Amino acid sequence: MISLDPAIAVQRLPRHLAIVMDGNGRWAEARHQPRTFGHRAGVRAVRAVVEACLRRSIPALTLFAFSSENWKRPKTEVNALMKLFMLAMDKEVDSLQQNGVRLSFIGDVQGFDPELGARMQQAETRTQGNSRLRLNVAANYGGRWDITAAARTLARQAASGALDPEAITEQHLQAAVALADLPEPDLFIRTGGEQRISNFLLWQLAYAELWFTETLWPDFDADCLDQALSAFTRRERRFGRTGAQTRKSA
Ligand code: IPE
Ligand code: IPE
Ligand code: MG
Repeated sequence: MISLDPAIAVQRLPRHLAIVMDGNGRWAEARHQPRTFGHRAGVRAVRAVVEACLRRSIPALTLFAFSSENWKRPKTEVNALMKLFMLAMDKEVDSLQQNGVRLSFIGDVQGFDPELGARMQQAETRTQGNSRLRLNVAANYGGRWDITAAARTLARQAASGALDPEAITEQHLQAAVALADLPEPDLFIRTGGEQRISNFLLWQLAYAELWFTETLWPDFDADCLDQALSAFTRRERRFGRTGAQTRKSA
């Protein structure tokens, strides 16, 4: 196994990690357990990865917890996930607070039960002064929803006369999508073996390095993260330039 050289400078590590936490259901099914068992195990993996990011001084982590499309799952699974989110709000926020983690949610909170929505808001408010790690949880989130909401914001400004449609640039849209106040994700990880984005951060991932693993999310831990980080440090990020240009400016 390739492990991460502890001497790797923090500057070479991602500034923002985005993860599609996939494979909970298959992990449970392999153990002849209900899928919900896998989601509960997934919460433990979240804890491990948050701790690993703190240890590695990675300043931002965005986790895909529930997509706009996940409402299509059987009602029992959706309900169990909602209960689990509620439980996590009760159980995890204290330790996030103690560890200097600022929790934010991205996605359409309106879609949730008002009580859950209120808890999410409270957790954000409670942790908003923390700056060691910014933890964004994408819940009822879809990349298309995000871009659509941003387009609506700009259209509103244009309709009110505050913005000239001809003057709209990428920067305007960039400022209107989720996570606009953070550097864009530089490393995308998907567990569970599928190699797709599943409507995660479509705008924000434009230049992210992609890393896929067969490991199912409940089995993902600090060592797996180190493998991804190690791969990331060996990538050459060219952003449209040639390799020679990139190495000259490095
Ligand atoms: C990811 O695991 C968690 C959520 C989407 C909530 P899955 O539940 O998609 O697990 P698999 O892909 O069925 O194994
Ligand atoms: C993506 O996983 C969403 C989350 C991890 C929350 P899915 O398991 O829902 O993705 P698809 O349906 O296989 O593309
Ligand atoms: Mg899945």
